[in-house]
Amino acid sequence: MRLIHPALCVCVVLLAACSKPAEVASPAIPATPVKAEVATTPDPQSYANYDDVRVTDAALTLDVSFERKQLAGTVELALEWLDSNANTLVLDTRDLDIARVEREAVSGWIEAEYDVAARDPKFGSKLTIALPERAKRVRITYNSRPEATGLQWLDPAQTLGKSQPFMFSQSQAIHARSWVPIQDTPAVRFTYSANVTAPEGLRVVMSADNDATATGEGGYSFRMPQAIPSYLLAIAVGELEFRPLGARSGVYAEKGRIEAAANEFTDTEAMIDATEKLFGDYRWGRYDLLVLPPSFPYGGMENPRLTFATPTIIAGDRSLMSLVAHELAHSWSGNLVTNAGWRDFWLNEGFTTYVENRIVEEVYGEEFARMEQVLSQDGLIEEMKAIATPDQRLVVDVVGRDPDETFSGVPYHKGAWLLLTLEQRFGREVFDPFLRGWFDRNAFESVTTEDFLAYLRSDLLAKHPGKFEEAELDAWLNQPGIPATAVKSTSAKLAAVDAARAEFLAGTRTAAKLPGKSWSTQEWLHFLGGLPDATTSDQLAALDSAFDLTGTRNAEIAFAWFKRGIAANYEAIRDPLQAHLVAIGRRKLVVPLYEEMAKSPEGKAEAIRIFRLAAPGYHPLTRTTVATKLGVDP
Ligand code: BES
Ligand code: ZN
Repeated sequence: MRLIHPALCVCVVLLAACSKPAEVASPAIPATPVKAEVATTPDPQSYANYDDVRVTDAALTLDVSFERKQLAGTVELALEWLDSNANTLVLDTRDLDIARVEREAVSGWIEAEYDVAARDPKFGSKLTIALPERAKRVRITYNSRPEATGLQWLDPAQTLGKSQPFMFSQSQAIHARSWVPIQDTPAVRFTYSANVTAPEGLRVVMSADNDATATGEGGYSFRMPQAIPSYLLAIAVGELEFRPLGARSGVYAEKGRIEAAANEFTDTEAMIDATEKLFGDYRWGRYDLLVLPPSFPYGGMENPRLTFATPTIIAGDRSLMSLVAHELAHSWSGNLVTNAGWRDFWLNEGFTTYVENRIVEEVYGEEFARMEQVLSQDGLIEEMKAIATPDQRLVVDVVGRDPDETFSGVPYHKGAWLLLTLEQRFGREVFDPFLRGWFDRNAFESVTTEDFLAYLRSDLLAKHPGKFEEAELDAWLNQPGIPATAVKSTSAKLAAVDAARAEFLAGTRTAAKLPGKSWSTQEWLHFLGGLPDATTSDQLAALDSAFDLTGTRNAEIAFAWFKRGIAANYEAIRDPLQAHLVAIGRRKLVVPLYEEMAKSPEGKAEAIRIFRLAAPGYHPLTRTTVATKLGVDP
């Protein structure tokens, strides 16, 4: 039944010609107001014909097989036809085996003709389904493959408990298509439900209404009644325990980690309350966290109702809670008001980085928030040195590119810096209601940069003329680098660290005399980040004997320390560095270390040796990224 009707072939060819990936470069955002109809601009990362027909609900019935490393079952998609002449549904898939496609007719379910196009290495395979009667529902029977880019299948040895396997998804940006045939674009939102069966003893959780008391007998069922984009589809299966944190928050983790996790995340409920006070109701019911094994490739992922998090934020002192603030903030910026395409990613991440900082200010105080602003801005300036100028613009040209490859700190930190600039220019009494209005007006919608500019001009700039000019806006959005008018944040604590570092480097203060014992994680990160390239291995050894940095159990500090250590050829880090790279798969904490090693020929050989040891435990994304950087096979 794989062959398609001849008439449909023509249409498929036409679709192929007029659909993505397109070759046109996306233009800079014009300085003059643009109409909001740009919101329907086709997403260049998706094959879906979502201007013709839209998925409004997905009902999944899946079985989880660890033996086959596959999800298998059906998805039933509810359709809303927008174009009354259309008669095909085009979906995104990647490495899926499609067994059967059915469409709903008056007589019941009947076979539908379909075609799976050749696999594009970046975007996967277009699935074209002929629906001559514009069916209201289609049902696809399929299974994922072990190499699905959006899933990681872990052996028991890769978990803390060592007795049960584990599986988790990471759909953002365009990996949902590797485990569900779907319109894989953030321009389309749909509700979903799922019935999932898994081997006994394992709990299934999803980005939906998890029930901590469910036993799993007869499978786990879920419902996500709020419409979400595909990149927020999420599932995890493992031996999980649950601990409540507050009235509407809690944490899932492996047994051996649940106590530490619950202790680390105690401020979660206070963070939800703080964000509501600032930007309006939390509209998703519960907010739970799931702590994954250390191979999780990100720090956190804002899956609705269930943030996925790396265990590397469990530092023991709650010092890395801004990651929870960040993922929670996405419940407003991103999950509620969603970037319509990946070029508008800064609307998700820049807004979230800004809101994150407001949350930590409420919960941990102004000085803490300022320290994080300084780290964010310094990090951006440093990172930009290595970023091609077009990618230093807020609106990234993603046409023809895999969003994983365009990922950088620019949308996060430059975006947040723009919002902070607006806040300072207009004052919180004006800016806060403006930002809250953005979330309220666009709740459960997908938005473009043009939508934001229209709102900014009408509801902020025009009402307070002379405070922020078009030229400045253009510099933030369309020009590389940081605008000349940008004001750098300052922090008294970090200024003191600067002074201490300068004395240490000048030799007027010994390592032992530094006040490092009382420094917070942020002060240490600032101290280490500010050490010059010329720092010697003797200087590092002195710091190490005073503060045992090589033995730190804080993964962020370890990362910053190893980076310096590699550059200075500091021998003592050798084994702990290898242990870090083998144990942790979070991209941000491993990729720059391999890059630093690869700067010398001997270092590169060492990097490849360690990569070979570590790769089997890495997530496909981390494995591919490191392999690309080292120029070896994944
Ligand atoms: N949504 C992102 C993670 C992401 C981005 C996944 C793009 C796939 C594609 C998440 O909210 C995030 O930004 N995580 C950061 C944490 C943070 C505190 C900046 C991370 O993982 O490091
Ligand atoms: Zn984020």
